[in-house]
Amino acid sequence: MNKYKVHIVLVACFVGLVVYGCNHPQQEVAKAPENTFTVKGSLREMDLNPSPPTAFPEHEGKREFISYCAICHSLNYISSQPDFPAKTWEAEVTKMVAKYHAPIDSVTAKKIVAYLVAVKGKK
Ligand code: HEC
Repeated sequence: MNKYKVHIVLVACFVGLVVYGCNHPQQEVAKAPENTFTVKGSLREMDLNPSPPTAFPEHEGKREFISYCAICHSLNYISSQPDFPAKTWEAEVTKMVAKYHAPIDSVTAKKIVAYLVAVKGKK
């Protein structure tokens, strides 16, 4: 085989690979439950936080609550709780900080407790 023939074979291989690569259908991606997984053309979108912040009413302290209380778990952990008295919410937030090391300073923690009492407090 002379030098040119080797080149022709290499070019043919390359063209073949490109054509095959472009036309070969993409592998099917495993489908997750519909509400967490959306197919948009070649894009797959996944909702990593199934509890949208809008599920919580507007009130002072909401920004702090949304920012800090969704760091480790879904906000469903909070929305699925019954309405608690202020003492229970305070204990709950204290537990997140003391036991699980949530990075929340005491001023912010007070704001969050006030928010929880306002929107999910037992009347
Ligand atoms: C540093 C991580 C972390 C942060 C930040 C955090 N939590 Fe938690 N939270 C946990 C862990 C761990 C659990 C227990 C999970 C389990 O048992 O499945 C939990 C559980 C809970 C529960 C379920 C009841 C219970 O006591 O186990 C509630 C309610 C809760 N968190 C509220 C909050 C609130 C409100 C905030 C914001 C102030 C918050 N969490 C921030 C780690 C965190």
